[in-house]
Amino acid sequence: MSEGDGVGASTTFADHVAEYEKDIDEVLITGEEIQAKIRALADQITEDYRGRELVLIGVLKGAFIIMADLSRHIRLPLQFDFMAVSSYGAATKTSGVVRILKDLDHEIEQRDVLVVEDIVDSGLTLQYLLKNLSTRKPATLEVCALMQKTDVQQVPLDIKYRGFEIPPVFVIGYGLDYAERYRNLPFVATLRPEVYQTIAE
Ligand code: IMP
Repeated sequence: MSEGDGVGASTTFADHVAEYEKDIDEVLITGEEIQAKIRALADQITEDYRGRELVLIGVLKGAFIIMADLSRHIRLPLQFDFMAVSSYGAATKTSGVVRILKDLDHEIEQRDVLVVEDIVDSGLTLQYLLKNLSTRKPATLEVCALMQKTDVQQVPLDIKYRGFEIPPVFVIGYGLDYAERYRNLPFVATLRPEVYQTIAE
């Protein structure tokens, strides 16, 4: 474990949680790669918002880990808020119908707002969120997403801070789950096909 980084940032192997090792197919992004990218994104954000105070809005649950790591590298006064959303439909696909489970605790009118997302797949969740948040009249509204899947976005989205482009496959780890498991893995990986058959959705 390297000091000052996220827990287990130096872990590159599938055995971070021994019980999960048999489920992991391939590690797509290592813990080190994630931490390096997050530091670069945070530097860029610090530069772009210098002299201002920023509100970070995390989209629960997946974004809780990137929120924690990213925010500790942003050298600006920050405030935090969270929204929880759920999309109807099968567990590994978004339907585009979004339900707000938890709304913001504070007003964002005239504030500089940065939405922090773990992953953008179809883009429908983010499109809904941005539309919803823009009605609250923030001074600025931008997005930081750790990952974006290529060739599957169904709506045009302007993601100002983007970490990685990944192939359109289902991934877990670094906040992302399948059936509420795997969120605490410090890397991003795919699962063996058998896992989808053995875990009931
Ligand atoms: P979208 O609306 O299709 O862009 O999906 C966005 C949300 O679906 C993300 O915030 C995740 O919660 C979830 N999601 C999309 N792709 C994945 C994945 O590969 N693994 C885990 N969750 C995902």
